[in-house]
This record gives sequence, structure tokens and C-alpha cells, in this order.
Amino acid sequence: MSEHIKVSLNNGVQHIQICRLDKKNALTSAMYSAMAEALEASNSDEDIKVNLLYGEPGCFTAGNDIKDFMHTAQTGELGHDVITFLVSLAKLEKPLILAIDGPAIGIGTTMAFHADLIYASNNSVFATPFVDLGLVPEAASSYLMPRNMGYARAYEMLALGNHFTAGQAKESGFVNQILDENLIDHCQQIAEKLAAKPQQALKITKQLMKGADKAVVERTMQEEIEHFKKQLSSQEAKAAFLAFLNK
Ligand code: COA
Repeated sequence: MSEHIKVSLNNGVQHIQICRLDKKNALTSAMYSAMAEALEASNSDEDIKVNLLYGEPGCFTAGNDIKDFMHTAQTGELGHDVITFLVSLAKLEKPLILAIDGPAIGIGTTMAFHADLIYASNNSVFATPFVDLGLVPEAASSYLMPRNMGYARAYEMLALGNHFTAGQAKESGFVNQILDENLIDHCQQIAEKLAAKPQQALKITKQLMKGADKAVVERTMQEEIEHFKKQLSSQEAKAAFLAFLNK
């Protein structure tokens, strides 16, 4: 449970909304846990046919809460809840649609490579500033991003830390459509189209499409987590967190 994650059901579509606008929707352990719980519930709840995840108007998410990063940097432990969330994304059986408006930073971008459909406004910015924070990629993005958008573009994001516009994200193949109006309503309509399809066939289609990558995604996530934990307590990471927090 988290006051910052609102979960509701609308005509077979589970809405998961990130609501922590004062902190740019930065994600805390409790928020990861609430999102993971909702996604996991969709696997077994027949009333939920599709998941639709979005933030507040103007902000998808600023990624992991950097205060939490600082805290885990002291203990060396990567929060269990973020790992549970990553696993719930990788194991999700029902469709996941992302509606992105505004910054989609860190995990806000990497979760896109686990989603099935992504609609974004021109206001969206995609960025994975892991290296600048003294960290490494997560959510199997070190595998999924080069594979899906090509090594050169993935390196620009993951190593150089370049920000991508919605147009660049669409050109790179990970945004389906750019929409500046009625984003959530449009996504609801698309979700309802999926919800009306034969559910077993839809589920198997996703399994088949994600299947070949499953083992490598799981292995990559584990490898990334090991490096991420070590980097979290490095001096370079602590310096980067402090610089942000003292801004
Ligand atoms: N963790 C914790 N707090 C965060 C945060 C994060 N990831 N991102 C933003 N915030 C907080 C800021 O500290 C600030 O809090 P304050 O009002 O108490 O000082 C508030 O949210 C507003 O942020 P601000 O930076 O002033 O907003 P902005 O509109 O100028 O910029 C972003 C928005 C998202 C571009 C910018 O906040 C940012 O770069 N955030 C960090 C992103 C990041 O590196 N995430 C980790 C990815 S691995």
C-alpha cells in the first residue's frame, strides 16, 4: 500500500497511477511494492484484462527516489521492493500499456522495454542517467535497449546520458504513437480493444513474443543487480547523490 500509487479498475483495465508530483513522482520502496502488487494481481485476476500505467499530467516519473538511493548507499543493500517490481514487470502475463507525459527518467524509461504499447506526449523526455549517478543500467536495459533500439542509440542513452524526445523515442521504436491530447482516454480505448480480444490467445501471443528473451532477461537483471549494489555504495555514486540532494 502506498498513498502515492492509485489503483483502480475501469472496464477490465487496471489503472496504476503514480501520484507524487511534489517529488516529480520519484519512486520509493512503498511505491514499487504497491505497483508490483497490482501487476502481480493482474496475472490471476480475471476481471483485470489489461494494465495501464501512468503518472500525473506533466510528469511520468523522475525515477528512483535519490534520497532512498543515498540511504541504501549507506547500507549497501538494494531495496527488496524495487527488485520485486522488476521481476513483476518481467513476469507480467497481461498487457501493459504506458501513457507517458513529461519526464520518464531512469526506471521510467527502462520499464518501457517491458511494456507492450507506449503512448507519449511531445512533452515527454526519456533519460537513463545511471552512469552520471555512478550507477549501472537496471531492469535488463543493458540487454533490452541495445536489442530494441540498436547499440548506438542505446549507448547514447545509457552511457552518454543523452535525453531523448518523444519523437526520438518513436523513431527508436519504443514509442508507438505521440499524442498531446486525451492521452489517458486514448490509452483506455486501446486497452479496451485488447480487453475485448480472446484472452487466452492474447496471453499466449505475449508469452511467445517475450519467450525467447525470458532467460536472458532474468540473468541480465541479476547481473545488473549485483553491479548496481556495489556501485550504490561507491564514492562516485555517493558524490552524485549528494550533488543532487544539495542542489
Ligand atoms: N529523487 C528524489 N527527489 C526528487 C527526484 C528523485 N529522483 N527527482 C526530483 N526530486 C525532487 C527534487 O529534489 C525537488 O524536491 P524539493 O522541491 O523538495 O527540493 C522536487 O522533486 C522537484 O524537482 P526539481 O528538480 O526541482 O524539478 P525540475 O522540474 O526542475 O526537474 C527532473 C525535474 C525530473 C528533470 C529533475 O528533478 C531530475 O533530474 N531528477 C532526478 C532524476 C534522476 O536522476 N533520477 C534517478 C534515475 S536512476
